Amino acid sequence: MTPSGTVHEAVQRVLIDSDTLQNRIRELGRQISADHAGQEVTLICILKGSMLFTADLMRTLDVPVVVDFMGISSYGASTKSSGVVKIVKDLEERIEDRHVLVVEDIVDTGLTLNYLLNALTLRKPASLKVCALLEKPARRKVEVKIDYLGFTIDDHFVIGYGLDYNNHYRQLPYIGIIRPEMVSE
Ligand code: PRP
Repeated sequence: MTPSGTVHEAVQRVLIDSDTLQNRIRELGRQISADHAGQEVTLICILKGSMLFTADLMRTLDVPVVVDFMGISSYGASTKSSGVVKIVKDLEERIEDRHVLVVEDIVDTGLTLNYLLNALTLRKPASLKVCALLEKPARRKVEVKIDYLGFTIDDHFVIGYGLDYNNHYRQLPYIGIIRPEMVSE
């Protein structure tokens, strides 16, 4: 369905409002900064969903950071179950001997993150940690360690704050549950 009207009309209910998001992100930032005292951190923003979260999170960090971006895409319809993802935009910098923090918007089945962590480990970073804003344990298929987690949510279809439906609604400043009638399947 092509979205029409204001983007907020697509939302059935706000799940996590903007203030709650920003307060939790500040807490995560304090924890990450404390854990990385004396280190320079490479933030890896996983496109596209993590762009807002990365932008806000990095503003809360008081250790030196560099940011890099990775774009991944699924191989066809079976990918969500196979976990095989293709790197469509690779990092610009090497991460060997760097302290790396992967920034994800959501961990659902865990397959994407599992694949990514395996791929990044081969590049021999000094440390490799994960910061995810959301996780949906109900849908988890593979165990992945999330070092810094914003919120655990139930199995809702959520949009906003980077999360999309058909590439739309990423600009909402909160996490909302999409109206079921907006979802065509
Ligand atoms: C989302 C999210 C994670 C992945 C999580 O990305 O950003 O990368 O799915 O799902 P999983 O745990 O089941 O593997 P998506 O493919 O929707 O791309 P986008 O960030 O560009 O919207």
